[in-house]
Order: sequence, then structure tokens, then C-alpha cells
Amino acid sequence: MPRRIVIAIDGPAGAGKSTVARRVAARLGFVYVDTGAMYRAVGLWAMRAGVKLDDVHKLEQLAAAARIEFEAGSTRVFLNGEDVTEAIRTPEVASAASKISVYGGVRRALVAEQRRLARDASVVMEGRDIGTVVFPEADVKIFLDAAPQTRAERRLRELRERGRQPVAEQVIAEMEERDQRDRSRAEAPLLQAPDAVYLDTTALSIEEVVEAVLRIVRQRIGNGQEPGQAITPQP
Ligand code: DC
Repeated sequence: MPRRIVIAIDGPAGAGKSTVARRVAARLGFVYVDTGAMYRAVGLWAMRAGVKLDDVHKLEQLAAAARIEFEAGSTRVFLNGEDVTEAIRTPEVASAASKISVYGGVRRALVAEQRRLARDASVVMEGRDIGTVVFPEADVKIFLDAAPQTRAERRLRELRERGRQPVAEQVIAEMEERDQRDRSRAEAPLLQAPDAVYLDTTALSIEEVVEAVLRIVRQRIGNGQEPGQAITPQP
């Protein structure tokens, strides 16, 4: 069986992580794991269940009990059997996810699940702490970033494409607050791993970023060959 590979992609909101990680995974035939969706799912559950977002004990219980599943080959996310793909994409749930993710117990439950997902498959996993905490030994680590204005514009476009009518000032303020919290928390803050490659995506198209990431993957693990060939050699 070929060796399992972990590609870790971290960075702030709106840097392009999800789109890029999904496409890179598709190109390599790897499993794509959106860890933000896991924190969002627990945040959504807490909101619906009326659990206060600072009730650390109840939040830990929810995180441990949450059955979060990703549908293979699609971007669908299920929480306890319910399709929550759309429900977790609101700014309110994003903010709840950021608030509950400061708690060590919540993180431990989800990190254990993230490691389990990479046990049997090569993965492209994206989040905030993948290269620093979840997989410090990841084969490839990328830190995606972009100018704050570009990140805000991307987030606004994404919300409009989902049929929403976001208020720009509100979205920008929410993103700034969230990034500030994600960067400054004590547990697993958003941080570039020392051995991660920093990629500023401000002036790049998605395809250019995908190609740049694939080049890095090839350099790190493929000895210059096509990643698919190098990673899963045919018998
Ligand atoms: O990537 P995202 O915007 O869907 O993430 C939502 C929130 O979840 C983010 O603001 C912080 C938290 N998160 C985290 O703490 N660690 C991760 N690996 C991924 C997300």
C-alpha cells in the first residue's frame, strides 16, 4: 500500500483555503478535509440547543458527541445524520465556531477525529492549526494568506453566490474579530508553522494558487514527478 501523505493548509478566513484545498485534493486523488466545517457544525449545534457559547463543559460534551461526516466526492457535511452544508455557512455560525474553538476540550475532541480521518487515506486538510498541532509531521505545509481587503471581498462574493445579501461593513467587522480571536487564543492559535511555505494569494487566481501548491507538493514529496505518479506508484 502506498505511504499515506498529509498536506496541511492553514491560514486566515478568506485566504482561499477551502477552494484551493478542494481542488488540490481532487487533482491528487486525496481526501479533502475541511476542519472549519467541524468547528462550525459544533457551533451550529450549540446555537440550536441553546448552549451558551462560553459554557465550556456543555460545549465539550457536544464536541465529543457530534457525529460529523463528509460525503465522499462532494462538499456535503452532515451533523448527526442531518445535511448541514448550507446551515453552517452563515456569518453567525462562523462567529460561533470561532468562539467555541478557543476551548481545549472542544479542540481535543475534533483533533482526534481529524487524525482518525487521515489514518486510512492521504489527505489535504485545511484549517488553522493543521501544520502546527494536528499534524506537526505533515509532509507538506502551506500557509495561505491575502491582504485583508481581498479576503473581505472574497467572503462577500462567496455569500452573494450563496444567495445572501451581506452588509459589507458587518462582514468585514465579523472577519476581523474572528481572525483576531483565532490568532490570539491560548490553545492552538492561527500561526504559520516554521516549516510551512508562505503563499500570498492576493494577486493570484485560484488556478494559479492551485498550481503553486502542486509545485510545492512535487518539490517536497514527488522528486519533480507528477504527484499522482510519485505518491501512488502503479504496481
Ligand atoms: O475555516 P472556517 O472559516 O470555516 O473556520 C471557522 C472557525 O473555526 C474559525 O474562525 C476558527 C475555527 N477553526 C479552528 O479553530 N481550527 C481549525 N483547524 C479550523 C477552524
